[in-house]
Amino acid sequence: MDFTLTSDEPKVIRAYAKINLSLEVLGRRPDGYHSLVSVMQEISLADEILICPAAGVDVVADDPLVGTSDNLAGAAARLLMRASREVRGARISLHKHIPVAAGLAGGSADAAATLVSLNRISRAGLPVRRLLTLAARLGSDVPFFLYGGTCLVLGRGEHVVPLPAPAPVWYALSNPGIPVSTARVFMELPRCEWSNGRATESIADDVRQGKVRLGPNDLQTTLFRLYPAARRCFDRQVALAPGRTSVTGSGPTVYSACSSMHEAHDIAAQMRDAGYWADVARSVNPRPGENPCRSGS
Ligand code: C5P
Repeated sequence: MDFTLTSDEPKVIRAYAKINLSLEVLGRRPDGYHSLVSVMQEISLADEILICPAAGVDVVADDPLVGTSDNLAGAAARLLMRASREVRGARISLHKHIPVAAGLAGGSADAAATLVSLNRISRAGLPVRRLLTLAARLGSDVPFFLYGGTCLVLGRGEHVVPLPAPAPVWYALSNPGIPVSTARVFMELPRCEWSNGRATESIADDVRQGKVRLGPNDLQTTLFRLYPAARRCFDRQVALAPGRTSVTGSGPTVYSACSSMHEAHDIAAQMRDAGYWADVARSVNPRPGENPCRSGS
């Protein structure tokens, strides 16, 4: 997320999306969730959020797919109200650019941005470790966004190991415009798709050397079985960028690592011409000292 929030004035903040450069499922936990190993990367595709302190919580959004009563950003504000007396509520306006239920974790990004900025503008002053606990309660992808940039993510998603910024990359993104249920993909995931996490650990090692390489996504086969439109989208884009195209999260968004901004725009334009939603984004990494979570304060 955008950590350049310096004044106490409410302002529009950017909540960046993520892609999974690699995602392996290790197994199913007793609580029904799955143990994961993933390298996650923040990208410049972002929602814009205006948060104003108010009495009670009110969420408005400009995308009809976004539920306003069960919204995760609203849930973040309510959780913060229970955690701190300083927080009386918030009016949250979401200007959505991140496709909903598309594997880009837009709802989780909005929730993390709400936690961090409402904590600041309401002067609640909860420390980072407390925000991380609240983030994990909101959803598996939320803790990652408190760190942002590039991270190795473990457990259910709550253990986040920040990685150094690798070389910047432009990505072409596309999807078939259908919402995917993450819960359904995980529920239908057979044991034979589980793996040992070593491929993802090796991707993380490459990132530590400054290199970006794409690893496996253990959810991909199940996604394609349940949502054939996702496979058709992937097949079309992988033909344009073979060997460097993958699916993010439980899909259906497909991304390709591109050699230039120009190539990313070219691939996105071809996917758009074929009837898909498409956009381009670059990797986002916070500057040293910019993100209080990464510096542990
Ligand atoms: O945590 P979140 O609400 O984002 O997860 C959505 C659904 O995805 C969960 O209800 C669960 O079924 C599945 N999931 C999982 N293991 C994870 C993350 C999500 O099984 N680590």
